[in-house]
Amino acid sequence: MADQVKILVICGSLRKGSYNAALTRALPELAPPGMTFTMAPAHDVMPMYNADIQEASGFPPAAEELAAAIRSADGVIVVSPEYNWTIPGALKNAIDWVSRMKDQPFKDKPVALQSCSQGPLGGSRMQYHMRMMFTYLNAFIFGTPEVIVASAQTKFDKDMKLVDETTRNFVKQQLAGFAKFIERVKA
Ligand code: FNR
Repeated sequence: MADQVKILVICGSLRKGSYNAALTRALPELAPPGMTFTMAPAHDVMPMYNADIQEASGFPPAAEELAAAIRSADGVIVVSPEYNWTIPGALKNAIDWVSRMKDQPFKDKPVALQSCSQGPLGGSRMQYHMRMMFTYLNAFIFGTPEVIVASAQTKFDKDMKLVDETTRNFVKQQLAGFAKFIERVKA
């Protein structure tokens, strides 16, 4: 594996007590050697996408910051809940903004997905929609192992630490596989 693999983590939940945010915090201890993580800048400060705004004043600074963070990472992991069977609106809005940039930041970028939900399907329907979106954006979307944390309230303890061993192993396997995937994409 390459010495250093820089991962940008984009969390689709904005709430403090988020299970998805808790999962992002577990990544460093489950990662292969050399993989480091940076959290993406806040995306909830962007206005709703409107081509008139883009034409009048360009891209919002938060969209430029997010795009720069994506470009400088070796790979991106999106960790997100599912809202109404699909991608949360704020996250979709942020991706819509950066997708209109000339140097579209997801092009040729390795991307992996993770999701937590309190329901039995763990956000898998949202992941399916994200796969379509990232295919359109010409990202290199990582296949398996998938990280789909169903019934998240049973997988984290009262301090929001990921304690479920099976889930921890899936995350470990995905991160190890993603590191190899990034290496192959870069070669
Ligand atoms: C949800 N939730 C949800 N869960 C699910 O499995 N499928 C779904 O389609 C939805 N839809 C949905 C819509 C909206 C607007 C909200 C607020 C919630 C429940 C969701 O899984 C639960 O709230 C998670 O805890 C959200 O993730 P965080 O915030 O804990 O990371």
